[in-house]
Amino acid sequence: MADTLRIALAGLGTVGAGVIRLLAENGTLIAQRAGRPIEITAVSARDRAKDRGVDISGFGWEDDMTALSARDDVDVVVELVGGSDGPALALARTTLGSGKGLVTANKAMVAHHGLELAQLAEANDAAMRYEAAVAGGIPAIKGLGEGAAANRIERIYGILNGTCNYILSEMESTGRDFGDVLGEAQALGYAEADPTFDIEGVDAAHKLSLLAALAFGTRLDFGAVATTGISRIRAADIAQARALGYVIRLIGLADCEKDNGERHLFQRVAPYLVPTNHPLAGVSGPTNAVVAEGNFSGRLLFEGAGAGDGPTASAVVADLIDIARGNVPPPFSLPVSALEASAPADPGHRRNRAYLRFLVADRPGVLAEITAAMRDAGVSIESMIQQGHPDDDDNPVLVAIVTHEGPEGAVDRALTMLEGSESLADKPLVMRLLG
Ligand SMILES: NC(=O)c1ccc[n+]([C@@H]2O[C@H](COP(=O)([O-])OP(=O)(O)OC[C@H]3O[C@@H](n4cnc5c(N)ncnc54)[C@H](OP(=O)(O)O)[C@@H]3O)[C@@H](O)[C@H]2O)c1
Repeated sequence: MADTLRIALAGLGTVGAGVIRLLAENGTLIAQRAGRPIEITAVSARDRAKDRGVDISGFGWEDDMTALSARDDVDVVVELVGGSDGPALALARTTLGSGKGLVTANKAMVAHHGLELAQLAEANDAAMRYEAAVAGGIPAIKGLGEGAAANRIERIYGILNGTCNYILSEMESTGRDFGDVLGEAQALGYAEADPTFDIEGVDAAHKLSLLAALAFGTRLDFGAVATTGISRIRAADIAQARALGYVIRLIGLADCEKDNGERHLFQRVAPYLVPTNHPLAGVSGPTNAVVAEGNFSGRLLFEGAGAGDGPTASAVVADLIDIARGNVPPPFSLPVSALEASAPADPGHRRNRAYLRFLVADRPGVLAEITAAMRDAGVSIESMIQQGHPDDDDNPVLVAIVTHEGPEGAVDRALTMLEGSESLADKPLVMRLLG
């Protein structure tokens, strides 16, 4: 058997401890499959004395994690610290700069600095892998970059954040409101103490930007992902969606068009109404799913646990096995110089059906004002439901409208016309129907 692949772990939290457990338990099988043993030689975290439920006494220790990349007994550094910048980025730069391999689960860092890191990897002939950064244990990066490599990918979309999916499916099954379910998700460990990145869609946007670059061969452009979270969704929206034959899911969706020789990349994270017979409607709880539509493969669906120590460690070690085998494609499937620049697509001409929810004052003329704005903007209404509070003049009334298919720009125009209207008690909520 060939030489051992010697690895260093930076970060010994949920994922780091999972990697230690996985290599210990499946070491023999992994060595057979990789063609060589994979062994940890050194580790780093903030607190050396902390009990992590795993034995780290046999590994070298570095207080300063960047020192891991300078060690002679390390071939690959595994970064499991997190954060888009700071120590994780410093470690990634020194690791690749010194020609060592980098495996990371850090979607924030790759979304913000992926091109720079991929360039460093190329310049120093070093491996860079990030399977665990997207959808936990699901081999979405490998599936897209290798399994579907023969296809032109038409569209990629999916459920990329387990916290949001847990909250939405709990709201759906219990009828409870957002804040209530979020509190429970935090108590159960499905949501962070500061849940902003998850519930406002930022985490899903990090992942979508990586998938889009890989799928379309475009330069990574996290800043261009149009992002809306789930914090404004009410139990009443879920009930209305259900009555119409839909469930609500936070979806990340990207496609790429060529117009007059210029590539336009559409990237959006937003809550969508998903028909109950669509495969993504059945994805509930903290599960993730990624759909890729290839021009020869057809629709490919990857589904599984989007987080957790076991699934995420499984993805990290899959990357290590690839490096041990010498299977090291460019991080975004193409050399960085071959990734095409793209302009953000203007969503105004995209044709969709939309769900619009208004909270309105309970007085005559309000519905006429809304429908007039729709008519003037060229939006055709398919159905409208009004949900009032009997004998309650003080609370706003919920009006839910579903439009016929039409350009998104028309809906935007109608909402602009209604801006500032005294009839509206809150900013309208818009969700597209996944077609
Ligand atoms: N958890 C998941 O299910 C999951 C899924 C997919 C991807 N990821 C990604 O995996 C990465 C790690 O996540 P995690 O959940 O394992 O995080 P975590 O449990 O918070 O662990 C982070 C580790 O990094 C160490 N650390 C933090 N700041 C440090 C510093 N300045 N210097 C040295 N060590 C430092 C901590 O040390 P101490 O332990 O000593 O405090 C801890 O061991 C993140 O990028 C995350 O986005 C996580």
